Amino acid sequence: MFVTLEGPDGAGKSSQAAALAERLRAAGVEVVLTREPGGTALGERVRELLLRTDAPERTTLADALLFNAARQQLVEEVIRPALDAGKWVLCDRFADSTLAYQGYGGGVPLDDLRALARVATRGLVPDRTLLFDVPVEAGLARRSGGPSAELTRFELAERHDLAFHQRVRDGFLALAAAEPARWSVIDASHDAGAVTEEAWRGLEEWLVARSP
Ligand code: TYD
Repeated sequence: MFVTLEGPDGAGKSSQAAALAERLRAAGVEVVLTREPGGTALGERVRELLLRTDAPERTTLADALLFNAARQQLVEEVIRPALDAGKWVLCDRFADSTLAYQGYGGGVPLDDLRALARVATRGLVPDRTLLFDVPVEAGLARRSGGPSAELTRFELAERHDLAFHQRVRDGFLALAAAEPARWSVIDASHDAGAVTEEAWRGLEEWLVARSP
């Protein structure tokens, strides 16, 4: 099973990913937990280029290409081998983030981004995608107020204003609405424990529904 976690900044995805991985392991499932951008040596280097606030200027399309370069490496090096070995893969962000951020947010045509992702992933699509949805102001407030207040380039207000983040959130919701069989939308504005419960239920229901 290939499960991705998506959502706007400050939705708490990363802690949710860790919590879900733990639950799956407790249920006897072998899980590989990874993230984008990152997850490989190349990916972590590209991550620095992409997210550091002092990174060189570049176009939004160049951003999309960099995210996809890291993605290709992650798919070949980590995700495919794990899936081939029968493991579950939980990935904190994947190709839908490029559609939401560089597409809906940044204005790169969605068809171009879909074509890029198809090449970069060699057609790999998640079996299930969990959208951790949170209102934009609440998400950004969590990010800037949290203990790890290290803001990325995408969270700097002077680069990406509230309207950008609103387009990103609306983009995620539009993607989820267009493909309800793959996506499950979780209200991530509750406390972390309740959100994990909801996400877990979403996965369980889906597992039961798929079993013969
Ligand atoms: P990260 O610190 O991992 O944030 P989060 O915990 O919210 O996932 O930073 C990832 C940032 O990169 C986030 O602001 C979203 C952005 N991003 C894109 O713009 N496009 C992409 O394709 C991906 C994977 C991430």
